[in-house]
Amino acid sequence: MKILNFGSVNVDYVYGVDHFVKPSETLASQSYDVFMGGKGCNQSVALAKAGAEVYHAGNIGKDGLWIKEQLEKWGVNTDFLQIIDGPTGHAIIQVVPEGQNAIIIHGGANRTVTPQQIDQTLNHFGSDDWLLFQNEINCIPELIEAAFAKGMKIIFNPAPMTSEVASFPLNKIDVFIINEVEGQELTQQTSPADILQVMTARFPNAATLLTLGEKGAVYSHQNTHTQVEAQRVKTIDTTAAGDTFIGYFLASQALGLPLEESLNSASKAAAICVTRKGGAISIPNREEV
Ligand code: RIB
Repeated sequence: MKILNFGSVNVDYVYGVDHFVKPSETLASQSYDVFMGGKGCNQSVALAKAGAEVYHAGNIGKDGLWIKEQLEKWGVNTDFLQIIDGPTGHAIIQVVPEGQNAIIIHGGANRTVTPQQIDQTLNHFGSDDWLLFQNEINCIPELIEAAFAKGMKIIFNPAPMTSEVASFPLNKIDVFIINEVEGQELTQQTSPADILQVMTARFPNAATLLTLGEKGAVYSHQNTHTQVEAQRVKTIDTTAAGDTFIGYFLASQALGLPLEESLNSASKAAAICVTRKGGAISIPNREEV
């Protein structure tokens, strides 16, 4: 069973600041780093480090070739990652001393996906395979329809949430992986219990994994609810914590681990991730977890 992650790749420009910049303010940063990132790329790295067979599809510019090489070194298959004319996507990330971040993204190559590229890529996958995607690429409705026609298991992490998401053919999704903010926007509810109730009512055949940051995560499918606690650690940088959780959870499920064990390994991996600076580079391998 293969996991196809059709997703973004970003160059992350990361600035350590003592507070998030305010309107009209010019703020000097205390540190500056350039890391590989993008929700798609981070999730592919987490999947590979957790032991899954993962194929990362999407687009980068020539300035992103170093990221492609690093993905391959970490065991991500990049046969379907295209090099296009134009810049790789990028993110400008402020990180405050408490470890919280604020992110601006520019889509760049991530927004140049075509329906033809989707069809050509999905030709290499079948009904035993899983499709994972986030909301940082274009052509998502076409991607969902193509994967559904193939009978693939479809997993959607609608991050970052946009108003467009409501217009996607969401009834074809098998698993939603959302945080509280995404859950609130999808359902117009505020409490985790209400978010899950509305998700189940609207998508009765789909599972929802709701991540709750320091409060852990809940997996809900029809009448099954499984909750895990978060691990307590000293937070340095929360970037890619959610991506790490998703990659570890899905890899563990793909490897046949029980649900609770999959959630626990995801929670531990995310906890290790926040103790380190950066996105993909901060994702631990299975031995560390
Ligand atoms: O989830 C973290 C990621 O969000 C960063 O790596 C950044 O590129 C943005 O896509």
